[in-house]
Amino acid sequence: MTNQYFVAVIGAGPAGLFGARELANLGARVALFNRDIKPGGLAEYGIYPNKHTMKSGLRKQFRQIMDLPNLDYYGNVTVGAQGDLTLDDLRALGVQAILVTAGAQGTKWLGLPGEDLEGVYHAKDVVYFYNSLPPFSQKSFRFGKRCAVIGAGNVMLDITHFLSREEKVDEVIAIVRRGPAEVKFEKKEMEYVIDNLDKAALDAEIQRVAPIMQAVNQDPEAGRASILEALPKALSKVSDTRFRFEFLASPVQMIGDAEGKLTQVEIEDNILVSKDGDTKAKGTGNKRRLDVETVIFAIGDKVDESFGLPTEWNEFVKNPNPRFPVDGISFESPFEDVFVGGWSRQASSGLVGIARKDGTNASKAVWQYLRQTKQPDESNVEAVATKIRSLGKPVVLKEDIKKLEATETAEAQRRGIEAFKFDNNDDMLQAMGLKETA
Ligand SMILES: Cc1cc2nc3c(=O)[nH]c(=O)nc-3n(C[C@H](O)[C@H](O)[C@H](O)COP(=O)(O)OP(=O)(O)OC[C@H]3O[C@@H](n4cnc5c(N)ncnc54)[C@H](O)[C@@H]3O)c2cc1C
Ligand SMILES: NC(=O)c1ccc[n+]([C@@H]2O[C@H](COP(=O)([O-])OP(=O)(O)OC[C@H]3O[C@@H](n4cnc5c(N)ncnc54)[C@H](OP(=O)(O)O)[C@@H]3O)[C@@H](O)[C@H]2O)c1
Repeated sequence: MTNQYFVAVIGAGPAGLFGARELANLGARVALFNRDIKPGGLAEYGIYPNKHTMKSGLRKQFRQIMDLPNLDYYGNVTVGAQGDLTLDDLRALGVQAILVTAGAQGTKWLGLPGEDLEGVYHAKDVVYFYNSLPPFSQKSFRFGKRCAVIGAGNVMLDITHFLSREEKVDEVIAIVRRGPAEVKFEKKEMEYVIDNLDKAALDAEIQRVAPIMQAVNQDPEAGRASILEALPKALSKVSDTRFRFEFLASPVQMIGDAEGKLTQVEIEDNILVSKDGDTKAKGTGNKRRLDVETVIFAIGDKVDESFGLPTEWNEFVKNPNPRFPVDGISFESPFEDVFVGGWSRQASSGLVGIARKDGTNASKAVWQYLRQTKQPDESNVEAVATKIRSLGKPVVLKEDIKKLEATETAEAQRRGIEAFKFDNNDDMLQAMGLKETA
């Protein structure tokens, strides 16, 4: 057996998979641990379900990575202070460096009154639900007739897409703390929902906020035009859902009935103030209530604070003076053998391609660290296998994933649909022969 560096990668989303590929190609032995049974992360469980071409293209690339001979996959294994394995467990198994690419799994609650009411959710949970990720796929959600979505990013539009094309609710109100000039979403994503947009309401809203925009030298008409850029390629609507914007408004509390069900969201009007070349929203004190049965926060996520790495401002702390920067970026945690990449380095930031590059660069930093501080060793893959067997739960290996994919592909063909996914762990484990049929 040749000596190799032995690295653990935590999380098999795009950052982890491409990071693992980089390390494996450089010659390391890689143990890739993933909380979910299937690899892919948000590419599998975040990207809108009907983006079949994109999803199948990514799955093909992920399969090639999983086939690398010096990469071992351990799915259904959570790593972290409260996980199946801790970082110290990994070190005790002979792992010489740890790359954390576990995404941003924490929830950015704002601490507003009424966040615990039935009907108040965070986008990640909803997205995981409609993308069939257990256990979110088994939870029940209350999508009422009138729904508010907080935020103006692509996730807000994905949720609006789901509410208007799948749930076919009566109304979706996007509540945006700044104005039309600061929206983050892209034209391509707007095309899915713009046929449901109430254009007269948009005009009235632009008129309402125009003086506030003009006060910071913004052009209201340019803001309106950029939203409407999606019109020429609008996808025809399939429901009468009325989609509209409430600009310059922040939620301040959620109000419920005696049964704890959401009935209203209270918002505070904002003005814009210029600061350091950017604009900030500032509350005016004027509050209004909107009748809604559902509020979904699509304001980005934060890293998992219970993971066991120090956190600050929703992210894992990075070494500000990295020993192994790549493109000037620090991928280093305060622990010398622990590195971070993808959304675990910068929460809720960018597309799959960005996560891929970030995971790859994080691995370059890991490799420099190994080369400068460690000697290649006999990777203790057997010790990992023994430890895994002692966890008392089914652990999914790469051969198992092949079986699962074959079963799901066959099921999609049988049903005559583009893709089929089991929405619970038991069915997946049974399909792989890791659990007996009940
Ligand atoms: C709703 C939504 C839609 C999106 N749509 C698009 C799109 O259409 N196109 C596009 O290019 N980008 C899209 N993105 C962005 C893209 O999904 C992300 O950029 C990318 O997935 C981030 O990759 P990551 O590997 O850093 O994290 P993730 O994809 O979140 O992967 C994290 C992985 O870590 C695992 N994990 C978590 N915690 C642990 C733990 N403690 N132990 C072990 N494993 C763990 C998870 O199971 C998961 O597999 C979307 C994002 C969202 C939220
Ligand atoms: N189809 C796709 O390609 C696709 C789909 C989904 C996601 N993604 C990507 O995934 C990443 C994450 O997307 P995202 O939509 O979650 O994030 P995002 O693009 O950063 O948008 C977050 C939105 O939430 C608002 N917000 C943040 N904190 C808030 C608060 N406390 N109160 C009120 N509003 C608040 C932000 O407003 P401010 O601007 O004022 O901060 C912003 O409008 C992005 O890079 C996105 O492009 C891509």
